[in-house]
Amino acid sequence: MRLYHAPASPFVRKVMILLHEAGATDRVTLVPAAGNPLDPGTMPVDRNPLGKVPALERDDGPTLYDSRVICRYLDTTLDAGLYPPPPRLWDTLVLEATADGISDAAVLMRYEEFVRPEATRSPDWVAAQWSKVERALDAVEARWMSHLAAPLDMGQIALGAALGYLDFRQAARDWRTSRPVLAGWWAEFAQRPSLLATAPA
Ligand code: BEZ
Repeated sequence: MRLYHAPASPFVRKVMILLHEAGATDRVTLVPAAGNPLDPGTMPVDRNPLGKVPALERDDGPTLYDSRVICRYLDTTLDAGLYPPPPRLWDTLVLEATADGISDAAVLMRYEEFVRPEATRSPDWVAAQWSKVERALDAVEARWMSHLAAPLDMGQIALGAALGYLDFRQAARDWRTSRPVLAGWWAEFAQRPSLLATAPA
């Protein structure tokens, strides 16, 4: 299998953490891809018309995207057990969606601040994206800590990828002080070998 890959993408990182946790990094060849909404560059537009990574080119079927589809596919194929059976599955999927929403908002902030031409940038729009991130982090601090303390699942992995991306691209914004429990979880979770091996670059 070939995985279209960008080392800064939190969505690619989800897939890479899953592969590390499953001991299956040798099952994929990484294909570097770079681009943005204004210039798809080397993004795999012929494989994913949305021009985004990750995209997983399979040996025996059409290319898969986005990260949630790829992670479900790899979890099933590798029998990784990162999506538990219902009813816990619904919590895992909602946490994954919440974490992906944090990553989405943070990537849009990055594009607004570094890709959009300076004359048309909107600080209000960036602030609105950050508000979305803050609401989601507040919800995790208030409601999800017992889930984060349970055995590893794809919700936790997606949250790790999102928090790692915030530290990477929004390091000047302090999300930790008002969310000390989540900050403590992240300090420990970030030390897993799968997280250390996939740090954004
Ligand atoms: C970034 O450089 O922040 C980035 C690159 C690819 C996908 C998403 C984000």
